[in-house]
Amino acid sequence: MSGAARGDAPGGGRYGEAVFPPEQAGEGERIDFGALAYDDTTMARLRDLGVGPGWHCLDVGAGTGTVSRRLLEEAGVTSVLAVDRDVRFLTTRPVPGLDVLEADISVPDAVPGVFSLVHARFVLMHLPDRERLITALAELVAPGGVLVLSDAVDLTSDRTPGTPYSTVMRAMWQGLRTTIGTDVSWVPSYPHLLRGAGLDAVAAEIHVPPLLPGSPISRFWADTWERSRAAMLATGLVDDAAVDEAVRYLDSAECAALSAGMLTAWGWKPEEGP
Ligand SMILES: C[S@@+](CC[C@H](N)C(=O)[O-])C[C@H]1O[C@@H](n2cnc3c(N)ncnc32)[C@H](O)[C@@H]1O
Repeated sequence: MSGAARGDAPGGGRYGEAVFPPEQAGEGERIDFGALAYDDTTMARLRDLGVGPGWHCLDVGAGTGTVSRRLLEEAGVTSVLAVDRDVRFLTTRPVPGLDVLEADISVPDAVPGVFSLVHARFVLMHLPDRERLITALAELVAPGGVLVLSDAVDLTSDRTPGTPYSTVMRAMWQGLRTTIGTDVSWVPSYPHLLRGAGLDAVAAEIHVPPLLPGSPISRFWADTWERSRAAMLATGLVDDAAVDEAVRYLDSAECAALSAGMLTAWGWKPEEGP
């Protein structure tokens, strides 16, 4: 196979094709609801790591570019290269210092150069061959720079109470796994994988946004279920009525559930010796 790597889903589907096509009306808004839920946490972590003036940054799978722009406009970094397999949301609002590259990051050598910050949020969980990709991203970090990975962690267990929310979330993860290969089960291994990629001072944290009616994270999940409804129904775990009920539950005072969290892990590239 040449060119873009296919997914490792049983059906061989890929993010942006079988599910979440960027051309579908409202896909940019769905990504923005996720960004609204998580951007402040991401930016606080990046600032705490020292990201600021003089930094050259790479934002992998940049989506609508909220983090890329905030790096430039708030953190004052020198440059950001925002890479995505589809850049339609990135090119609509140019800002000084923002460069955009349309590329598939599963393809070796898709991104030229090295960067003081390499950041990828909610991207690797959807892609096959994660260990190779983490190694490849670590190679894009300049000596003394940092690789920061964020992805979803499923905090449910077999003791999680059965609610309309938990039933539909289970169907969503299984449906995305089958359709495009999304797999969050290995996300807690990020610190270990970053260390294995040769990075130092590795650490990680988890942020769980509260599921309040009308909150960005609640609207993000409702939108995500709508867009992955066919994949969820195909699992046989839910029917249309169950998805509709979960959407209503999420927006009601009855809702008492734990969102998937965002695990952020980082590791530093050793400085080169004398
Ligand atoms: C869930 S969105 C996350 C967007 C952004 N990082 C954020 O957190 O707001 C995933 C993004 O990864 C991009 N993406 C998926 N597979 C990719 C690939 N193989 N190469 C480059 N970008 C990819 C998608 O087009 C989409 O914009």
